[in-house]
Amino acid sequence: KEIAVLGVPLDLGQTRRGVDMGASAIRYAQLIESLQSLNVDVVDHGDIPVIRREDAIKDQNEHLKNLQEVKEVCTTLAKSVDEILTAKKMPLVLGGDHSIAIGTLAGVSKHFNNLGVIWYDAHGDLNTEETSPSGNIHGMSLAVSLGHGHPLLTNIGGYAPKVKPENVVIIGARDLDEGEREIIRELGIKVYTMHEVDKLGMTKVMEETLDYLKECDGVHLSLDLDGIDPLYTPGVGTPVPGGITFRESHLAMEMLCDANVLTSIEFVEVNPILDERNKTAVVAVDLITSLFGKKIL
Ligand code: ARG
Ligand code: MN
Ligand code: MN
Ligand code: MN
Repeated sequence: KEIAVLGVPLDLGQTRRGVDMGASAIRYAQLIESLQSLNVDVVDHGDIPVIRREDAIKDQNEHLKNLQEVKEVCTTLAKSVDEILTAKKMPLVLGGDHSIAIGTLAGVSKHFNNLGVIWYDAHGDLNTEETSPSGNIHGMSLAVSLGHGHPLLTNIGGYAPKVKPENVVIIGARDLDEGEREIIRELGIKVYTMHEVDKLGMTKVMEETLDYLKECDGVHLSLDLDGIDPLYTPGVGTPVPGGITFRESHLAMEMLCDANVLTSIEFVEVNPILDERNKTAVVAVDLITSLFGKKIL
């Protein structure tokens, strides 16, 4: 199957500069070459056109920042992802901040009856305009995909919701806002916080996750690099200590590869301005190659 790489240089879902360069940094870390050396059939589809921060509307709703701009980019992204899947290729989307998941899932979800989502992240991204402490849409993208949030976002692609709460697994959570805890309780979302990762170990977490999603006809991996401990991935806008290790993340990707269940993938939140010599993008490429079959032996 051909892998279609798509960059989304969007930084308007949060307030720190630099995450718009994430896709370039991942390419610079030899993504395409590394996949080709594994004999993966990969084509770089370039970047989605994105509104620059300098050109964004100045007078913004502080509880839902850059709503119009994020909506427009996610609408374009959804169309491109839809086309990639229609052409029987597998989308590999590179952020950009995590608000792009709204567009990716809008493009992916219509191709499946029962889409599963693995949300690998320090955060839940389950806020709404009402509960968000920041007003940043990258902290709302999973809620939006579940149909909770501003209709301009939840209705992208012309349908809602994109995902059912019983088909979502969050892995690596360690920084949840009060409103997010409530929605997790209300909707009964499956969450492996760092407590469970520590206690069960990554092997069990992934075995249980794969079993939990076994009725799904497709699985999307949305991997926020801040899910990993900032020791390994310092180039992110919202680092949280006490995260998933490099080894555990490798294992998780290898188990996903062996299970052969993923139908779309996105890697988000790489911020080269905050990084140490592109370390975070290098980890991203390393994890992506593990997803596509790189083995030590
Ligand atoms: N919960 C915080 C907020 O809503 C942080 C979200 C961070 N999200 C992310 N995709 N890095 O602002
Ligand atoms: Mn206010
Ligand atoms: Mn995060
Ligand atoms: Mn996130």
